[in-house]
Amino acid sequence: MKIVLINGSPKTKRSISGTLLGALSEHLPPEAERAQLHVIGAGGAEARAAIAGADVWVLAFPLYIDGLPSHLIRFLERAVVGEVVPKQGAVVYTLVNNGFYEPEQCKNAVAAVKLFCNKAGLFWGQAVCVGAGPMAGFMPLEKRPMAPVASALGEFAVSISTVATGEDLYVRPNVARFLYVKSAHAGWKKAAEKAGFSLSDLRRLPG
Ligand SMILES: Cc1cc2nc3c(=O)[nH]c(=O)nc-3n(C[C@H](O)[C@H](O)[C@H](O)COP(=O)(O)O)c2cc1C
Repeated sequence: MKIVLINGSPKTKRSISGTLLGALSEHLPPEAERAQLHVIGAGGAEARAAIAGADVWVLAFPLYIDGLPSHLIRFLERAVVGEVVPKQGAVVYTLVNNGFYEPEQCKNAVAAVKLFCNKAGLFWGQAVCVGAGPMAGFMPLEKRPMAPVASALGEFAVSISTVATGEDLYVRPNVARFLYVKSAHAGWKKAAEKAGFSLSDLRRLPG
């Protein structure tokens, strides 16, 4: 079995999508052949070769405005119009992460990938949606609050290895909502200050 792990984050390093793909990869059978594709940097020939040989796609991406990042949409469109030719019978698994606490936010993006599968003649496998995704950027998946995410990735790996269809899973770290929101606000403030903005700049409405 050949698996292509597709990173649909525009970040070239330290993406949460990449971190989650790395953790998932550890659960996949060692004998399964793997190719990695980072959509943002993939040249045409590289993407075509990785896709053409893959029995299984694992498409990981961040939720952007309740949907898919635009460069990933363009990439998927290439498969619909035949510029990239997927292997017949290939099965698509989807790993979405989002910044808000609630993983259910990812439902529309999952529906969009299911529609893509229909259009491109691919089979749907399963989705795992991870709420409060940025936590995976600073908390190792082995730590207790991340247990629900680690466990979903383990279950996901079993579906992928057996090319089974599974119920979509919506998970988030085991952390109270108010604590997550508080630490996200602190992170935004720190980033704004580092970029030379004051807190009142952040509160100012655009326009
Ligand atoms: C342009 C943009 C749009 C986003 N839209 C949403 C959104 O609609 N809902 C949400 O929960 N998070 C949203 N996020 C947050 C990302 O999904 C989140 O930071 C994610 O962890 C990034 O994953 P990555 O590191 O793999 O790129 C958005 C982030 C950006 C930069």
